[in-house]
Amino acid sequence: MRDTLLGGLTPSDFLTRHWHKSPLRVQQAIPDFLGLLTPAEIKRLATHPTVQTRLILRQGKRWVLRHGPFRPIDFKTLPDKNWTVLVQELNHWVPEGEALLREFDFLPHARLDDLMVSYAVPGGGVGPHFDSYDVFLLQGFGTRRWGIAETEDLELLPDSDLKLLRRFSPQAQWDLEAGDMLYLPPHCAHDGVALSECFTYSIGFRAPTYQEWVEAFLDFLRDRLQVEGRYADPDLNLSVHPGEIPLALIAQVDRMLRQQVRWTHQQVAECVGRYLSEPKPHLFFEPAEESLTLEAFGLRCLQQGLQLDPRSRLLFSGKVFYFNGDRFELRRKGATQMRCLADTRKLSAGAMDPEFMKVLYDAWQAGWIKFFDSRIERLSHRA
Ligand code: SIN
Ligand code: CO
Repeated sequence: MRDTLLGGLTPSDFLTRHWHKSPLRVQQAIPDFLGLLTPAEIKRLATHPTVQTRLILRQGKRWVLRHGPFRPIDFKTLPDKNWTVLVQELNHWVPEGEALLREFDFLPHARLDDLMVSYAVPGGGVGPHFDSYDVFLLQGFGTRRWGIAETEDLELLPDSDLKLLRRFSPQAQWDLEAGDMLYLPPHCAHDGVALSECFTYSIGFRAPTYQEWVEAFLDFLRDRLQVEGRYADPDLNLSVHPGEIPLALIAQVDRMLRQQVRWTHQQVAECVGRYLSEPKPHLFFEPAEESLTLEAFGLRCLQQGLQLDPRSRLLFSGKVFYFNGDRFELRRKGATQMRCLADTRKLSAGAMDPEFMKVLYDAWQAGWIKFFDSRIERLSHRA
């Protein structure tokens, strides 16, 4: 991590003082940062059929939200003020996006969501709102005025898809220029308005709700619980009200559930690993086009090294690995190499443990990893 990123704070000072607690504005967090895209590039990206994109247009007090993908003509008919276009998962589309995320490697990949970019013309923005997760807002080209408020008053405007705040009065206001950054903890109200044509890069973190965890865990358990036995009532009492459910029946089911629906810490760890490494449902991998034998694959790894596909999520806990929702274990050298791949998302050229190599080979065939390519191909995924 570069020294300037947190304004001179060490990552551990930042975690103690700001993470999940209070906003931090950093001037020149990434000096000379001008951004990763031009206006023409983001508009072109927003026309791609699988990109997740939104356009927000302010017309007086009215806010209009449109979902992409857009047609080039959609941008030609927009006014020259008061709109913004946002593209999610820029790190999947631009190699430099992936490199930018690596600046935040002092935080666990398990918490990282994606890199979003917004392009706005003067007056453009998404309106006053709050997010339920932590975010770093890194200013690219142009100037954006951010107002923030740490307030309990988070009431939303009714009937708005945009989840805008009913009331917002900033307690602090800053004009962010290229390379400046603002960290906001969850629920900090904010509003960023473009003062000039500008780009903002949002490094967003994921924080599933407890409801999501519970649903994920119940799904996980359902697939694994094997329960023996069947309802039995040898001491059945005479029915006075045959329409009534006997209390003893309910009590027996209650007792059985408490005895049978149990889980271990290991199962929780597995559910968490699988859940957090599962790619989002709209993401698909293209299997490798080349066909190589395991031996030829090994040779290429030796010469070229590997990198994760930007859509891949690889996490671990000890020697247990979770790769795009799959779980497996590796031993000794293989585990060390796999941990290195998970931490850095790449592996330098060199000899690899045979057990590890087999896992890599399958992952390569599925399109989850690629041979290392140092060329920066701007918008290489774009059709
Ligand atoms: C934006 O880039 O305009 C919105 C980012 C945010 O407020 O979270
Ligand atoms: Co926000």
